[in-house]
Amino acid sequence: MARWFRKKNASEVMVLEEEMPFDNNATPLRQLKSPLLTVRGVQRSFQVGGQKLEVLKGIEMELIPLQLVMLKGRSGSGKTTLLNLIGGLDQPNEGEIWFQEHAFHLGSDDERTLVRRKEIGFIFQSFALMPLLSAWENVELALRMAGIPRSEWKERVAHCLELVGLGKRMHHRPFELSGGEQQRVAIAKAIAHRPSLILADEPTAELDSQMGAQIMSVFRSIIATEQITICMTTHDPTILEVADHVYEMVDGKFIS
Ligand SMILES: Nc1ncnc2c1ncn2[C@@H]1O[C@H](COP(=O)(O)OP(=O)(O)O)[C@@H](O)[C@H]1O
Ligand SMILES: [Mg+2]
Repeated sequence: MARWFRKKNASEVMVLEEEMPFDNNATPLRQLKSPLLTVRGVQRSFQVGGQKLEVLKGIEMELIPLQLVMLKGRSGSGKTTLLNLIGGLDQPNEGEIWFQEHAFHLGSDDERTLVRRKEIGFIFQSFALMPLLSAWENVELALRMAGIPRSEWKERVAHCLELVGLGKRMHHRPFELSGGEQQRVAIAKAIAHRPSLILADEPTAELDSQMGAQIMSVFRSIIATEQITICMTTHDPTILEVADHVYEMVDGKFIS
C-alpha cells in the first residue's frame, strides 16, 4: 500500500513507492501527486450599472492534497469571488476549473451541487451556526443534510467535536460559546461529512489573535487526521506564516 508524507515546508505531497504488492481491497487513498483542484485562465466579471466590472482577470492556481493554501489580497480584490468559483457556487466567464475529474466550468448547477455536497465543506467569517441548536445538533444537522445514515451520526458528531477541542462543550448553544469556540463548531460542521476540501472565507477575521492561532492549529490537525485540503482567505500576516502556499491577488491576478 502506498504511504504518503508531507515534507516540512514542502510545496508538494510525496507519494512513496509501494512497499507491498498493491492490495485491491485497501481503502483508496486520497493523497495523490495530482492536484485536487486546478484553475486555468479564469476570468470573472459582473455587470454593474450597465458597466462591466472585471474582477478576476486570468487566475492560475492549484490545490495540492493535504496543503493549507491561503489567498491574500486587499478587500475587494476578488478573494470571495474566487472561493465561490472553486466551491462550484458560481461559474467563470472564461477559463477552466477542475475539481478532481469534475469540470466545474462546464457542469450544470445540479451536477456541481452533487459534487459540492459530498466533497466540499464551507467555513465563513461569521460562523453561520443555527443559533437555537447546540454544538452537537449543529453538527448533526450537517450530517442530515449530507444524507449520512442516522446510525452513523452519534459517533461522527462526537469525533468531530472532540477533534476541534470541544469535547466538553458539546451541548452548549452558540451564545454560550466564545467566538473561537463557535468557529470550532463551524469547523466540526464543515468536516462532518468527510469532504476532501474545506473552503474558509476569512475564518479568523472576527477573532482575536489567540483564538485565530487556535483555529489555525485545528486546521493543521484536521489536515493530518481527516486528510483534508484547506483553502482559506486572510490578510493577517501572522496567519499567513502557517500556510504551505500563499497566492497573492493584485489587480485580478496572482503575483508570484
Ligand atoms: N455578484 C456580484 N455582482 C457585482 N459585483 C460583485 C459581485 N460579487 C462581487 N462583486 C464585486 O467584485 C469585487 C470583488 O469582490 P470580492 O470577491 O467580495 O472581494 P474580496 O473577497 O477580496 O473582498 C468587488 O468590487 C465586489 O463589489
Ligand atoms: Mg471577501
